[in-house]
Amino acid sequence: MGFIVKQLTGLRDWVDDRFPLLSLWNDHMGQYYAPKNLNFWYYFGVLSMVVLVIQIVTGIWLVMNYKPDANLAFASVEYIMRDVDWGWLIRYMHSTGASFFFIVVYMHMFRGLMYGSYKQPRELIWILGMFIYLSLMAEAFFGYLLPWGQMSFWGAQVITSLFGAVPVVGEQLAELIRGDYVISDITLNRFFSFHVIALPFAIAGLVVLHIIALHEVGSNNPDGVEIKKLKGPNGKPLDGIPFHPYYTVHDSVAVVVFLMLFSAVVFFAPEMGGYFLEYNNFIPADPMKTPLHIAPVWYFTPFYSILRANTVNFFGIDGKLWGVIFMGLGTVIFFLLPWLDRSPVRSIRYRGPIYKLALTLFVVSFLILGWLGTLPPTEGRTLTAQIFTVVYFLFFILMPWYTKIDKTKPVPERVTR
Ligand code: HEM
Repeated sequence: MGFIVKQLTGLRDWVDDRFPLLSLWNDHMGQYYAPKNLNFWYYFGVLSMVVLVIQIVTGIWLVMNYKPDANLAFASVEYIMRDVDWGWLIRYMHSTGASFFFIVVYMHMFRGLMYGSYKQPRELIWILGMFIYLSLMAEAFFGYLLPWGQMSFWGAQVITSLFGAVPVVGEQLAELIRGDYVISDITLNRFFSFHVIALPFAIAGLVVLHIIALHEVGSNNPDGVEIKKLKGPNGKPLDGIPFHPYYTVHDSVAVVVFLMLFSAVVFFAPEMGGYFLEYNNFIPADPMKTPLHIAPVWYFTPFYSILRANTVNFFGIDGKLWGVIFMGLGTVIFFLLPWLDRSPVRSIRYRGPIYKLALTLFVVSFLILGWLGTLPPTEGRTLTAQIFTVVYFLFFILMPWYTKIDKTKPVPERVTR
């Protein structure tokens, strides 16, 4: 035993003389001080990393048997499901992983809204997070075409034709994205390439930048207190604890619970009633037959609802183009949060009633828009979607005003719980 330890220590020192192994470990784990009061909401960053790894690993194994060819794609997925050893498990882990990715990322972003994590000095962490989010949406959109089912085909058809609504260059833009006049084998090939190479690289790279930016300024916490301000005689934050071993152990409990929930879905409800895997996608793509009701997967439906809610032509601009504009704005508007929020405090614990009400209304509107987006439109539903689209945008537009006038409570010197 002593011999093995000696050899391993020797190897570690050999590497450390040639690569900053120990200093990297200390800077980011052993001597990285995180606030001691991080709560449930702080699990979702590490869980997003876990899902990213699940998606990359299962993706690599899926590609071993998947065929990015319009004549073979659907059958190759069926082959993976029926004939490849453990193929069904790998595929269900990947499809469930896509939905879980959005669940954990939405929870992670919501935490940011609750505790004002995007506020100074963490603006760049937020901006990098937003780029991750947009890349994740693109990743999911490209991946959804690959099984070449009816929803894959028609979903991609609907979304790519939206670009056709852009004045003057619209049609050329849509053709550029598809590589063809309609969704075809060429589109499948380029979406495959983006899905397996370009976007995974971009996401992994952005996550590294996200963590570097986080470790530069340090984590916020549920009290929104800056722990670096109060240091002990050893120069370490009084309210901080080393990430390793405290948070590595703490987070591994969450990872185990998460994997239990994840497995329950993978093994017992991988389709999740048509929300994680849509029923129409079990039918091979048929360019001659449009499904009666085309809806994206649940994580896109709030934005899909915003798109459909724009039915009115005004300022000489067609409702469809307004839909595209508002759908785009509905996602990118989050980039502005660090500058829209004028509150002197970060955490919801010390904010006044107006912010609490505004955040509640925002979450309600996001959920209702999401639910409406899964349903075929009726007059009543379109009206409801229009009302909640307005509520959704008012959260952002009125933010500079209501965060300024809201009565805040004094923030304590030290973290509380
Ligand atoms: C693949 C996706 C992502 C991964 C792997 C990831 C990872 C992480 C990790 C590990 C942390 C530290 C632990 C924690 O605070 O939970 C963190 C913090 C943070 N992330 Fe992300 N993140 C992702 C996406 C996003 C997105 C989409 C946003 C927002 C648009 C975002 C915004 C933030 C912010 C503001 C913090 C600092 C929070 C605080 O200190 O209170 N992240 N992220």
